[in-house]
Amino acid sequence: MKRYLKVDDIGDLKQALKEAFEIKKNPYAFQELGKNKTIILVFFNSSLRTRLSTQKAAMNMGMNVMVLDINKDGWKLESEMGVVMDGDKPEHIKEAVPVIGQYCDIIGVRSFATFESKEDDYNEKVINQFIQYSGVPVISLESATRHPLQAFADLITIEEHKQKERPKVVLTWAPHPRALPQAVANSFAEWMKKADVEFVITHPRGYELADEFSQGANIEYDQRKAFKDADFIYAKNWSSFKDYGQVISQDRDWTVDEEKMALTNNAKFMHCLPVRRNMIVTDGVIESKNSIVVPQAANRVVSAQTVIKRMLESL
Ligand code: CP
Repeated sequence: MKRYLKVDDIGDLKQALKEAFEIKKNPYAFQELGKNKTIILVFFNSSLRTRLSTQKAAMNMGMNVMVLDINKDGWKLESEMGVVMDGDKPEHIKEAVPVIGQYCDIIGVRSFATFESKEDDYNEKVINQFIQYSGVPVISLESATRHPLQAFADLITIEEHKQKERPKVVLTWAPHPRALPQAVANSFAEWMKKADVEFVITHPRGYELADEFSQGANIEYDQRKAFKDADFIYAKNWSSFKDYGQVISQDRDWTVDEEKMALTNNAKFMHCLPVRRNMIVTDGVIESKNSIVVPQAANRVVSAQTVIKRMLESL
């Protein structure tokens, strides 16, 4: 595996799950693969789970790990081509990325949507420059449009907690005070459409995801109807794709609460975290016995380790 950006990069999901469960059962069995190999994790944005779980995954594989918080520790990077660099960015990404590639065997990159240009975000301008110029395999630690390590961990978690062969999984938009990227929702939709689940997306009008992610999914604009008989409720906020990056509703009637969870088939509650309590979800729901947000976050180590293992095998 030379890159991990989206669901197609992992191939068959059943096989990926099989590998993930082997790793979960025996996390230190593959340390020879990572011996004397180095991964560098580059962050353009904040992180708790991705940073720690990917480090842990790489350490489980016997690798050396370096983390670079570009905004705090590095030079500000220019990513436009052919510009006169007379501003506040002293280093061009075209030098910085191949240099980082000299120091490692695998690079992980977190680079969120900036909302400055829908075209640049949806063309994955930043992570594609890492693929183009680094000379080493690249793992997305959440790019402008997708969060594939999160979606893989979500699938592992659903597989572990499902009570029936083909569960009903509902992705619900929920309110948030700030404009958030569509990446988590996009990836979750991309993965659930390929998984053996009944998949429903519910959101207020105006929050439709890009066609490539929503096509083929069931869209239900009535959140209560969507929740009926659901086995998993996955809450997430995202900003509008159509009115790109805009917050067009903060309707608290979309907060996931006990009354709406009672409409479900005793559904498990999921969220990628961090979560704003009593905006996205009530204290009662996130603290209920049906909340699986912590085991979901724990599976971030498993998804990252499965991907790193495949990359090490292909070096
Ligand atoms: N879910 C997730 O990616 O969390 P962090 O932003 O803390 O890494």
